[in-house]
Amino acid sequence: MQIDNFKVEDWFNEYEKLAKYDMADTCVESLSIDELFNIIGNKENYLKEITARRLTYGDIQGSDRLHNAIRSLYNHDYSLLSRPITITHGAIGANSLVMQALIEKGDKVVSIVPTYQQHYSIPKSLGADVHLVFLKEEHNWGIDLDELRKVVGNNTKLICMNNPNNPTGSVMPEETLNEIVKIAKVNDSYILCDEVYRGLEHNRQISKSITDIYEKGISTGSMSKVFSLAGLRLGWIISPKEVMDKIIVHREYNTISVSILDDYFAALALENKEKILDRNLKKILEGKKIMSDWVKSEPHISWIEPQGGTTCLLKYDMNISSVDLCKQLLNDTGVLFLPASTLEMEGYLRAGYCSDISKLQLGLERFSDWLKSHSL
Ligand SMILES: Cc1ncc(COP(=O)(O)O)c(C=O)c1O
Repeated sequence: MQIDNFKVEDWFNEYEKLAKYDMADTCVESLSIDELFNIIGNKENYLKEITARRLTYGDIQGSDRLHNAIRSLYNHDYSLLSRPITITHGAIGANSLVMQALIEKGDKVVSIVPTYQQHYSIPKSLGADVHLVFLKEEHNWGIDLDELRKVVGNNTKLICMNNPNNPTGSVMPEETLNEIVKIAKVNDSYILCDEVYRGLEHNRQISKSITDIYEKGISTGSMSKVFSLAGLRLGWIISPKEVMDKIIVHREYNTISVSILDDYFAALALENKEKILDRNLKKILEGKKIMSDWVKSEPHISWIEPQGGTTCLLKYDMNISSVDLCKQLLNDTGVLFLPASTLEMEGYLRAGYCSDISKLQLGLERFSDWLKSHSL
């Protein structure tokens, strides 16, 4: 199977290790296991429990305890059977499984971009006819519903989206989500909503999950961003039963189960979700304030202030490609951004502002000095 290079991953593979100031990371500062126990308490008991466990495959679809903890993130009031869950290798595994299960050659897929590249490159590699609908800067990185209405047709199998959005940090208002659902419903299309940043809405108004408002909605999520536990490599899918039946067939070929250690720690963290969310939202707002003050003071940079998640797009006014800018900047200063051309958004940099807040200010100052000496 031929597939396009994953441009963001290529960038990180080549340059991340060289960064002194990593302004490109998408996680809220990761938790150590000790920090996790400081938050949830009872370390000795939990450690005793987990170190006594035999390292079997565990529950193949994930433990009941984990499923219940995940369900607490949703407002499902329908029967469990109609909305099964499975546990995956991160959200990356989740998205990939959904596409493998749903997409066949010739299917039409509409992907709302910019987004995580999986959402258009995997369907393309499976032979789908993929249409991109770009979020619009003039709409504060919101969607143009009229354009979406024109592109989605009765042959559209799947609409892919990511809410809150990486990279723009926009959050879809509930009315917009409802409108997208209407468009999908009329055309009998599935919607895959990658919800890995859901819970990190900056005003603490958590967005509705697509599975809570649409019977053909599929939600993917994970422990990586919202809970700062990317090292667990644990994600999930919630989908209608007929989709899950197909997902399970594919999952049996590439997952079996996730580690019982990941399952255990994820359940513990989710059972204490309010405390972790509180920590993370404080860090996000702290980082966003630093970034916002810097953008105001920096004549060469502008942005649409992010409303959710951990990332933003910085627009620059220099006549240089984003890849060249990022390479030169890294080489001269050790400051790492992601060139947004890797996300089909030339002329922008993607920044994360809450993964290492201690270095954020310094990194931005280095960038300002560099811009002063390079601007035309
Ligand atoms: C929108 C989006 N989806 C999925 C992923 C993959 O996350 P995970 O670590 O859960 O595999 C990322 C990671 O950056 C992401 O930004």
